[in-house]
Amino acid sequence: MAWNRKHLLGLEELSKEEILEILDTAASFKEVSTRSVKKVPALRGKVVVNLFFEASTRTTNSFALAAKRLSADTMNFSSSSSSVSKGETLIDTALNIQAMGVDAFVIRHPAPGAPHLLARHVHVSVINAGDGCHEHPTQGLLDMFTIREVFGKLEGLTVSIIGDIRHSRVARSNAWGLKKLGARVILAGPPTLVPPAIGAALGVEVSHNIDQVVAESDVLNCLRIQFERKAANYFPSTREYAAIYGLNAERMKNCKKDAIIMHPGPINRGIELTPELADGDRSVILDQVANGLAVRMAVLYLCMGAGAHAQASETTAD
Ligand code: CP
Repeated sequence: MAWNRKHLLGLEELSKEEILEILDTAASFKEVSTRSVKKVPALRGKVVVNLFFEASTRTTNSFALAAKRLSADTMNFSSSSSSVSKGETLIDTALNIQAMGVDAFVIRHPAPGAPHLLARHVHVSVINAGDGCHEHPTQGLLDMFTIREVFGKLEGLTVSIIGDIRHSRVARSNAWGLKKLGARVILAGPPTLVPPAIGAALGVEVSHNIDQVVAESDVLNCLRIQFERKAANYFPSTREYAAIYGLNAERMKNCKKDAIIMHPGPINRGIELTPELADGDRSVILDQVANGLAVRMAVLYLCMGAGAHAQASETTAD
């Protein structure tokens, strides 16, 4: 298919074919990481800016390494040590950095819609690395890539996303993407953190019965309780949350034979799942991180016009 998007702002607006294009491109880039020289010249001479207004370990380092693997130059921007702390706006900040001759912004911001706003003001590519509780498209893509790698397909699988759905951009991106690729999606957790309206808005199922969810699922994707967004106000105690909604060995006795356990990280060990499960045979958590690199290489490659199809069109399609 002809990829003609300059930005990646979310999975809600992507077609099934566009998602598959990213996953298939990522599959070819995964091989690059197995070489002794882990680099291709696709983005030589281009500059990718990591514009992070929120903390990150996986996403920021993964995008930085992905850009380097494509031979791009990288710049890291941290809001706390920048002139944002003196009151400079997001748009002024971005326009000033753009004036230095950069080619893409990878942005994480606490405000939903910040990447969309940025994309309307700059002429270079904008990649959403997480905007508030809205979307985290590359996390959704790397989760789908990992599931497809394990099962060879997404269609027909039951994927349950368990935990703090209310505050989760990861849940939203996963739900949009998985649904388009034919998976059955269940959002699960306490009613306060998984209000039925979220399921209705995303067009997926909702469950508050974790034992039933464990028994039915091929994939159990546990999400972090976002304490920094006051998620602890939504249940009586973390001990109770872990007992009723957390994954543990006892609960997993009823799971499907080939069920896998995922988590986008960072993990609250002993709350969303026990350490023995996080580090156990069913866990693909570190595979998710490894696959994130290939997925982000694919996203930068396609959006920055390095692919033959993308070169044909510089138009914004957001
Ligand atoms: N999964 C994820 O987004 O992790 P970071 O917050 O460390 O980037």
